Amino acid sequence: MMSDAELKQLFETYLVRQIFDKEPVNLYSPIKYTLENGGKRVRPLLVLLSAKSFGADIQSALPAAAAIEIFHNFTLLHDDIMDQAPIRRGKPTVHQKWDENTAILSGDTMLVWAYKMLEAYDIDIYKKLNSLLNKTAIEVCEGQQMDMDFENRQDVMIDEYIEMIRLKTAVLLGAALQFGGIIAQASDTDLQNIADFGIKLGLAFQIQDDYLDTFGDKDTFGKRIGGDILDRKKTFLYIMAMEQANVDDKQHLLKLYEDSTLPDDQLISKTMALYKKYQVDQIARNEINYYTNKALEALNHTNLPDNEKLFWQKFAQNLMHRAF
Ligand code: IPE
Ligand code: IPE
Ligand code: MG
Ligand code: MG
Ligand code: MG
Repeated sequence: MMSDAELKQLFETYLVRQIFDKEPVNLYSPIKYTLENGGKRVRPLLVLLSAKSFGADIQSALPAAAAIEIFHNFTLLHDDIMDQAPIRRGKPTVHQKWDENTAILSGDTMLVWAYKMLEAYDIDIYKKLNSLLNKTAIEVCEGQQMDMDFENRQDVMIDEYIEMIRLKTAVLLGAALQFGGIIAQASDTDLQNIADFGIKLGLAFQIQDDYLDTFGDKDTFGKRIGGDILDRKKTFLYIMAMEQANVDDKQHLLKLYEDSTLPDDQLISKTMALYKKYQVDQIARNEINYYTNKALEALNHTNLPDNEKLFWQKFAQNLMHRAF
């Protein structure tokens, strides 16, 4: 049996073989830069491992795994423009290293390339993968728009936040698991349950990302710490702080987010101090736990054999404790 590390290596080798050195250089070198710069490869691993769990040959799932990872990397190029992010995976973002127009067009090319990877499949499987990717891609855009709309709102409730992260992040993890199931010709019920497992896992994953954006370590996280605060994002931490704070602190937090004159490091440290005062870091840890357990409940409803369920339990727990 292959370990996760060996599987990741198999994927890297496959992905690198797809990358081309073509012209114009300013279109293709940002793509190469992005795809060769690692990342956790969570989504392609979900595709490969799900295909294996439901009984398919891992090799047959490689193009679908690449499709999902290339799609994900396309969203990152555009997300970094929207979020004005300077670093990703410990390196300058594409719009910083090149410029915004380059990041837009390289991103667009990756989006189309993701779909092109699906051409490796026979018509029945192809149709299913293609429709699922269509549905998911639109949902991701809806979630991204909500995320940006929330920057300008002060009254975002937790339910709206959960819906926003379900769309921008969780559905893609669900789709990755369904991709594996589709390739293995799993039953519709199993596809539903494995998607549900992925969505709950994805909610925990995004809350963890919000947590790390403020409380993570710069070198291991690979992104600018406090970026969400600078963007006035309505993250899990912010919403919980607003919910827990007394009247004065609530006012203080509102004022901080409205203040455009405060230097970046002060805005970050003052917001962080309020987060710590109300222990929203701990609340976030508990919520990550809660959704991971919900995910495991959904997993239990699948028809997967016990050893496969056990494997996914460990996978979910490792994901919950990640530091980047
Ligand atoms: C970043 O995704 C965007 C989110 C949905 C939080 P990852 O945390 O999977 O990023 P990489 O691919 O490992 O860099
Ligand atoms: C991720 O949201 C959602 C997508 C990329 C679609 P974030 O904006 O939190 O992701 P990071 O933190 O920049 O990776
Ligand atoms: Mg974003
Ligand atoms: Mg971002
Ligand atoms: Mg983030």
